[in-house]
Amino acid sequence: MTRKPLIAGNWKMNNTIAQAVVLAQEVSNLFERDWADAVDVAVCPPYVDLKPVKTVFEFDKTPVSVGAQNVYWEPSGAYTGEISIPMLKDIGCRYCIVGHSERRTLFHETNEDVNDKVRALFADKVQPVHPIVCVGESLAVRDEGTCLEFVDAQVRAAFAGTDEVDAKDAVVAYEPVWAIGTGRTATPEQAQEVCAAIRATLAELFGAECADGMRVLYGGSMNEGNADLLLAQPDIDGGLIGGASLKAGSFVEIVKAAL
Ligand code: PGA
Repeated sequence: MTRKPLIAGNWKMNNTIAQAVVLAQEVSNLFERDWADAVDVAVCPPYVDLKPVKTVFEFDKTPVSVGAQNVYWEPSGAYTGEISIPMLKDIGCRYCIVGHSERRTLFHETNEDVNDKVRALFADKVQPVHPIVCVGESLAVRDEGTCLEFVDAQVRAAFAGTDEVDAKDAVVAYEPVWAIGTGRTATPEQAQEVCAAIRATLAELFGAECADGMRVLYGGSMNEGNADLLLAQPDIDGGLIGGASLKAGSFVEIVKAAL
């Protein structure tokens, strides 16, 4: 099966509304409309920038979606500081990053939290927000030689209690923690090995046909210089881009590498 690649920018905690609008406008100006036939593109700005960024792309009719970087699983209530799925839907978010390693490490998000978020996103079926589920090992785990087992367990935990009907539109992003923001990219062979293993786990969970249609991204210091080789790997269906997504030119070059 040929999977349509997804290039998603993770802006992390960068850009005020004014800065976000400028960056979105720069991306929009460089974007060729017909690329959307071959690649899905999204940016995931901070919550406060979502609506302004979405407005820029909508006004220009530029086929770039917006996604959130996190979400809470309850629909409403006394959860100070949290943002719900109905709120993301109201803005028109198409994706939501779940379980990014910075959230797991800095904000103590557990596999159970990730699973609660994934199941809540799957439960909301009208104009669904698709999770981009992040998994990936630390350097210690890689050096120990247990990377594949570690990532397998993260994938199983994230999707526990879900089925192929829900999972088919979900995205998994393999982001080795040692490659995030470090300038140290996984080699295409290392990334391919783990992305193929993730697909094998998805096949065990949801069947080969479903797994074959699901997108598995690579993330971790992907840039316009290394995107070509990473995206050429058979089990890498796109990228989750941090640092390089903050420069319109770099981000658009990565999008072009996926065409
Ligand atoms: P990076 O971040 O591209 O800056 O390494 C990727 C990510 O954390 O999603």
